[in-house]
Amino acid sequence: MKAFNDLADFSTEELEALLALAGRLDERPEPTALRGKVLSLLFLSPSLRTLASFQAAMTRLGGGSFVISPDMSIHGLETRPGIVMDGAAAEHIREAVPVIASYGDAIGIRAFAERKNLDRDLADAEFESLVELVDTPYINMESAIGHPCQNLADWKTLDDYDIPANGGKFVLSWAYHPKALPLAVPASTLYTAARRGMDVTVLRPEGFELPEPVTTKAKSAAEASGGSITETDDRVAAMQDAHVIYAKSWASTRHYGDRLNDQELRNALDDWCVDEPWFDNARKDCRFMHCLPVRRGVVVSEAVLDGPRSIVIHEARNRMLAQMAVLHQMLGAES
Ligand code: CP
Repeated sequence: MKAFNDLADFSTEELEALLALAGRLDERPEPTALRGKVLSLLFLSPSLRTLASFQAAMTRLGGGSFVISPDMSIHGLETRPGIVMDGAAAEHIREAVPVIASYGDAIGIRAFAERKNLDRDLADAEFESLVELVDTPYINMESAIGHPCQNLADWKTLDDYDIPANGGKFVLSWAYHPKALPLAVPASTLYTAARRGMDVTVLRPEGFELPEPVTTKAKSAAEASGGSITETDDRVAAMQDAHVIYAKSWASTRHYGDRLNDQELRNALDDWCVDEPWFDNARKDCRFMHCLPVRRGVVVSEAVLDGPRSIVIHEARNRMLAQMAVLHQMLGAES
């Protein structure tokens, strides 16, 4: 495996093999599988789970890793192309990235969306410009429009809880958040649930429609897998007979890159906090998922998050197992 960037790059058999390997590595650890291998981890955006789970994954497989982020005592990093570097930054990303990559056998890169220009973010322009600088295998640790490690972990979580693929109802719901958040998780989660063959409902207020290319990609996956996609702002209809609700906030696509208008639109939507009454007409055992971090009492009530519906901790642990499977295939002896 040369890259782990988008579940769409893999056949269903390849995804099933990764999921099976993740389960196997949990049951039967392989503490020397990646002995002598090094994973470089470049975080241009913050993290808890991705940072910790990649380091844990490499250690559990017998390899090592190192982390570089702008918060560390590194030289100030310039990211703008074509700039005369006569300001504070002493190092350009064009040297920093290949140097970091050269110390490892593979590199993971996290670079959140710039959230200025929707077309640029949909094209994943910044992440693509970074991976062009490396000649090792690479892993997308969340870019402007993708979070494949989260997606693989989420797929495993749905399997672990026996939530049906075909015939399973998956509600991807916008939730209130005081800030305009990236599209990476909702866009790639929509694709993942559709690819798994689920009947997906995108529940969102007006102004937060997912972009057309995101929906088109997911619809095409749903057609191939026997799933379906619908989009609505009707919470009661969306939650009818749902097996799982996956909550996530995202920026207004109507006002993308326009902080003031986005803020004005979202200010009136603070009742979009997932709470127990949301589940009144869902299946009795309807689960709650979220990629974390999550704001308690803002995105979801404490009662739901701490209650039996919530599977967010299992979901977060699956990040480590999913990434162990990816690393095993990317860096293992037979790769
Ligand atoms: N879900 C996720 O990627 O978490 P972090 O941002 O903490 O890595």
